[in-house]
Amino acid sequence: MQRSSRDAANVPKRLAEWLASQLPDGAEPTVTLQSGIAANGMSSETLILDATWTEKGERREGEFVARVAPAAQDVPVFPSYRLQDQFDAMSLAAEQSEVPVPRVRWMEPSGDVLGTPFFLMDRVDGAVPPDVLPYNFGDNWLYDAGVEQQRRLQDSTVAAIAGLHGIADAASTFGFLEGDATGDSPMRRNLAWTRGWYDYAVPDSGPSPMVERGLTWLEANVPSGTDTVLCWGDARIGNVLYREFEPVGVLDWEMATVGPREMDLAWLVFAHRVFETIAGSLELPGMPDFLREEDVRSTYAELTGVEVGDLGWYQLYDAVQWAIVFMRTGARQVRFGEIEEPDDVETLMHHKPLFERLLDEAGA
Ligand SMILES: Nc1ncnc2c1ncn2[C@@H]1O[C@H](COP(=O)(O)OP(=O)(O)OP(=O)(O)O)[C@@H](O)[C@H]1O
Ligand SMILES: [Mg+2]
Repeated sequence: MQRSSRDAANVPKRLAEWLASQLPDGAEPTVTLQSGIAANGMSSETLILDATWTEKGERREGEFVARVAPAAQDVPVFPSYRLQDQFDAMSLAAEQSEVPVPRVRWMEPSGDVLGTPFFLMDRVDGAVPPDVLPYNFGDNWLYDAGVEQQRRLQDSTVAAIAGLHGIADAASTFGFLEGDATGDSPMRRNLAWTRGWYDYAVPDSGPSPMVERGLTWLEANVPSGTDTVLCWGDARIGNVLYREFEPVGVLDWEMATVGPREMDLAWLVFAHRVFETIAGSLELPGMPDFLREEDVRSTYAELTGVEVGDLGWYQLYDAVQWAIVFMRTGARQVRFGEIEEPDDVETLMHHKPLFERLLDEAGA
């Protein structure tokens, strides 16, 4: 899937000039771009680069990744990219937990260098379970691993989430991640933000009656009595670099916020259910025993002592958010001439059967 219309030719030179302004005088940095855009993910642009510079009289080398906000003409998934917030969230989460969050280095907030804001972080050596094609289709390192290794990956990912949730005083430290959303609880503010995100998506792809049904029901049934933790947000295995089936890099902080623990746990489980739905529609066996809700809940309870509440509401919430992602990625495919504009945007929702079932079960 094409993501960007950025011209890569001038990028190394521009990055080197900018790096010179971030480093002490005489650093004389050089930048080499390894490849264009990394394989996973559909939202931000990721540049893989090597840099050299002089420090204390010696030539140094570093391996970095630039996370670049998408340009407006590239039909971004989200209405805004808050790169500075992502940078700050990663920096604070790395500092206040044992979770392996890549070290963030330099932030370019103005957009003057590459056209949109970006930041550089350390590159981490590891493998990400593929999204395209989804890991549960087979023929990749995770699918081909033994059940024990798959379980190690599952449990260590739950442990990483638990580690983030264990950060004290999240509501005050990470409250800035809620932006200007309104509502009398973190969950209500998150829901209000999602409605705004849907409203942003409609002009490019047309309305979705399913999303509207979902949002209306969710707004009328918001769970209460939950505690507030740092939520990683896009908490799925496709956003983790692994070595030996354990996380070495927790990536992709653009949906990070504060809210109930259930949000991250449901998202972890639901992302797999989306892929299982797609595999099922292609009559592939998939990975039905992997990332099951009851297993994730009990691992989390063992690690934290917290029995989370029912995830039903959150999974319908996830179905709505995935639907909006599909609205945006579909609109982008239309913009880049990859597909014809559909009459009905819901035909682009690859999790539609699951979404319908969840709406019916909820009585939405
Ligand atoms: N610090 C890093 N070290 C090594 N590789 C990285 C690093 N950050 C990102 N990558 C690579 O880039 C890919 C995409 O990164 P990421 O998931 O953060 O962004 P994205 O997928 O574009 O966003 P989204 O998931 O919202 O669409 C990762 O799968 C990984 O291969
Ligand atoms: Mg990603």
